[in-house]
Amino acid sequence: MATSTVYGSNMDDANWLKHEVGRHAFHPMADPKDTVGNPPPIIMKGDGVYVTDLDGRRMLDCQGGLWCVNAGYGREEIIQAITDQLRELPYYTNFPGSANAPSIRLSAKLCELTAQEGMASVLFGSGGSDATETAFKMARQYWKLVGEPERLKFLSLRNGYHGLHFGGMSACGGDAWRRSYEPLVPGFINVESPNLYRPPFEGVDPETLADMCANLLEREILFQSPDTIAALIAEPIQGAGGVHVPPANYWPRLREICDRYGILLIADEVITGFGRSGELFGVRNWGVKPDIMCVAKGITSGYIPLGATLLNERVASAWEAQGPRSVVMHGYTYSGHPVACAAGLVAVDIAVREDLAGNAADVGSYLLAGLRRLMDRHEVIGDVRGKGLMIAVELVCDRTTKEAFGPTDPYPMAVSDKCLSNGVMLRTIVNKFIISPPLTLNRAQADDIVAALDDALAKTPR
Ligand SMILES: Cc1ncc(COP(=O)(O)O)c(C=O)c1O
Repeated sequence: MATSTVYGSNMDDANWLKHEVGRHAFHPMADPKDTVGNPPPIIMKGDGVYVTDLDGRRMLDCQGGLWCVNAGYGREEIIQAITDQLRELPYYTNFPGSANAPSIRLSAKLCELTAQEGMASVLFGSGGSDATETAFKMARQYWKLVGEPERLKFLSLRNGYHGLHFGGMSACGGDAWRRSYEPLVPGFINVESPNLYRPPFEGVDPETLADMCANLLEREILFQSPDTIAALIAEPIQGAGGVHVPPANYWPRLREICDRYGILLIADEVITGFGRSGELFGVRNWGVKPDIMCVAKGITSGYIPLGATLLNERVASAWEAQGPRSVVMHGYTYSGHPVACAAGLVAVDIAVREDLAGNAADVGSYLLAGLRRLMDRHEVIGDVRGKGLMIAVELVCDRTTKEAFGPTDPYPMAVSDKCLSNGVMLRTIVNKFIISPPLTLNRAQADDIVAALDDALAKTPR
């Protein structure tokens, strides 16, 4: 079998890669049969907000990798930190008997950055699914430590996405993510969320809708018995579910309800953490302090896998209790990996120093306005929504009925392919285009995205 060599070195290698894609590896969220013989762009290089594929096409990366390359590609500082750490110490565990310096430094840094939220302790993992899994386990242990062992259940929201380990998947609020792997973990309860485009209750204004959803949540808590609920998990802005920005009163209501019944509030900041929503952390848009925060993705700008779960003082202090039950019987070989933490220290520093959140707010609202203007020219756009640099453009067959294109309809993908040939790579989820580029995007590049989509919609027959 040929071996892959260097990008562009010879055509045989390029053809070999295209031939082999999907043949020996299943790709996440894809039907293996679709990948073989229909190769997706094979990305070989990145610079700034652009990526280049095997065919030499340079494209503006509207996916930001997968909502994660916040600082953009080719950041020498992060690369240097990774290579320096690899030379110094490529690995050492934090299991009992040892520790490593980068993970100590990064845990302190994360608590410093979230001082406003009152975070006091950090547990590391290798990504977002680890971060939510850890949050669920720490929440259950917390309640055992404080003498309420019956608090076992978790609440989550319709359209929410919390990763695909068994815990996170059980909290996900979409059938597609759960169906093939059921039964779910017992004790996960999913409730309505204030989806403004396809609301569960018609004919009410956004704040009223948020109140109605919050009231439903409270009714569910009372029905379940508050003293059986461990925590509520939610994204400050729902991402994978289609970018749903909640009305401003919703998160404060979540906090108020959790407080009323003593329930822990977990903010899943895996996408929103480190600037994407226009604030350093998504909860700051809503002025809410959660009890637990899950972060990943932007923590290293995607340069190397890392995730973290942050506990506030209320939660962390439960481990001051003595006894065998206070051992954190949870963790991974790669918890606090020194290379990942060294990358995290620099990536997080860049996010703060370069005010990536401020740029996401500024360029994000400019881009959102540009995309919204396309609605005047293209009847097929049903909705454009988002905050900061997390935006969705939803296509519909009929704007009045909001009838969506089905998963087998080729039209959205044809538009996306045309965008690709216009030099802009979108992420297509059935009938939605997700736009989550690096947070270093500038206004001229935002114009390029709007122009590429405008042209693609104009030229793609339905
Ligand atoms: C809000 C949220 N939580 C958790 C996850 C899971 O993260 P990972 O894919 O790194 O396991 C994701 C991934 O997109 C996410 O968007």
